[in-house]
Amino acid sequence: MKSFYITTAIDYVNGAPHVGHAYEKVLTDVIARFRRQMGDRVHFLTGADEHGQKVQASARKQGVDPQRYVDETSAQFRALYDRLGVSYDDFIRTTEPRHKQVVRGILQQLFDKGEIYRAEYRGFYSTRQEQFLQEKDRNPDGTWPEIFGEVTEIVEPNYFFQLKKYQPWLVEFLTANQDFIFPHYRQKQVLEFLKEPLNDLCISRPKERLEWGIPLPFDEGYVTYVWFDALLNYYSAVVDKGLWPATWNLIGKDILVPPHAVYWPIMLKAAGLPPPQGLLVHGWWLQSGAKMSKSTGGGVNPLALVDEFGVDAFRYFLLREMNVGQDSEFTREQFLVRYNSELANNLGNLVNRTLNMTTRYVGGVVPAPEVSEELEKSLHALWAKTRDEVLPLCEGFQFHTALERTMVFLTETNAYVEKRAPFRLAKSADARDQALLRTSLATMAESLRLAVALMQQVTPTATAKINAVLGYTPGAHWRDELDWGSRLTGSKVAASLVLFPRPTPTDKTPAKPA
Ligand code: ME8
Ligand code: MG
Repeated sequence: MKSFYITTAIDYVNGAPHVGHAYEKVLTDVIARFRRQMGDRVHFLTGADEHGQKVQASARKQGVDPQRYVDETSAQFRALYDRLGVSYDDFIRTTEPRHKQVVRGILQQLFDKGEIYRAEYRGFYSTRQEQFLQEKDRNPDGTWPEIFGEVTEIVEPNYFFQLKKYQPWLVEFLTANQDFIFPHYRQKQVLEFLKEPLNDLCISRPKERLEWGIPLPFDEGYVTYVWFDALLNYYSAVVDKGLWPATWNLIGKDILVPPHAVYWPIMLKAAGLPPPQGLLVHGWWLQSGAKMSKSTGGGVNPLALVDEFGVDAFRYFLLREMNVGQDSEFTREQFLVRYNSELANNLGNLVNRTLNMTTRYVGGVVPAPEVSEELEKSLHALWAKTRDEVLPLCEGFQFHTALERTMVFLTETNAYVEKRAPFRLAKSADARDQALLRTSLATMAESLRLAVALMQQVTPTATAKINAVLGYTPGAHWRDELDWGSRLTGSKVAASLVLFPRPTPTDKTPAKPA
């Protein structure tokens, strides 16, 4: 069994989660579920980034103790991921002793080896990005880009990590490992960034300015810079499980350079640990062209959409709409377009027809297929082609295309129903028409079973419900479920299932999903 260890970024729990956070965890979940279905031994880690100035400031603003604050906000993020069916195996919080202990151990080891030194720091800091800035980060007019929020100047003695001396190693590593970053063009951007000399990394904050962090083991007057602390979660969570290195660290594009592409591999290298096998970098959900964010407040509340349309519809939209790596605009209108045309009208329609017709014409028991004519043969062929395309698309994270191909197969199945017209065949007493009727019902049911098997990692609940109404229990090996056959012959189907209720034309809002 192949071991597959995948992580998400751990969110700053300084506000309510929005669609961007939900997307990242759902995307990772879809990959984790897909790998499990393919037979890998998966470990899926997510969690919360609970230290730093940003969290401390939010707690102060509410007048609560930071620990109490993160206990509440972390639980809110976690509850969202539970609600979304995110099948994580472990949820790490950076305030947990198991994490702090590993961070302090590594800091001490690096300090003892001379990788960390003390010096005067002078420079600018963005709390919103929890990031030190350089002159080259300024706009041409001298101001700081919007994304950094408020920027403050800092002058104080601090501890520094020797980043600079590892720059040649990192360039060599990235040059030798062309597939380290997905999508590939981002790897080129990192190499471009590395053409400028790196500065050593300031990894401490004096306690007078920031209390909310992990104290440095060699100087308790300081706490650890939040990124140095947070990045190590991927390692600290599995240190006793022997799972390092991760197969993928999945992150958004805003935290690739420098934290994940520069600090992280160098920290590991300095500590004598291997880098992750890859960084999987997704794009942003935008609203009116701008990144959705906690700090600017414009985020869509994912729970409201889930309440309205159900978990599977929400997951489906995120995966269907976004090409992994690129940006996508989030609008309710686009959500409704996909919901109506793909889920309600295409998939929902096939579910309704299959259940209704099987119940009405043959007493609810799926018949055996008897004839295979051109119409059936071309649908079988389309299935084989769809499956053979979709599996590699999922392996390469092209879920939007995988879902699109699956929808084409469902559209063609609905077209088959129109052409075969079981509703006409049912009125005929002719033996051949009756054989065609039974064949068409068997074909519809089998197509439906296969299509929802292929969507299982994205719509696990809908897939399970459809299997249940088809009277079907899938076997232990998902991959073996994807062959066209007659596994449903003799199954007793339910009379109906409302999975994706159609929005009423007046308010465009559907009734509560079943
Ligand atoms: O960066 N669209 O936390 P965070 C898509 N704590 N993804 C988005 C997004 C959007 N509009 N907004 C945010 C941090 N994200 C650090 C990570 S990892 C050791 C520490 C993504 O709460 C973002 O790209 O600001 C990141 O991957 C994740 O949400 C958490 O962002
Ligand atoms: Mg952020």
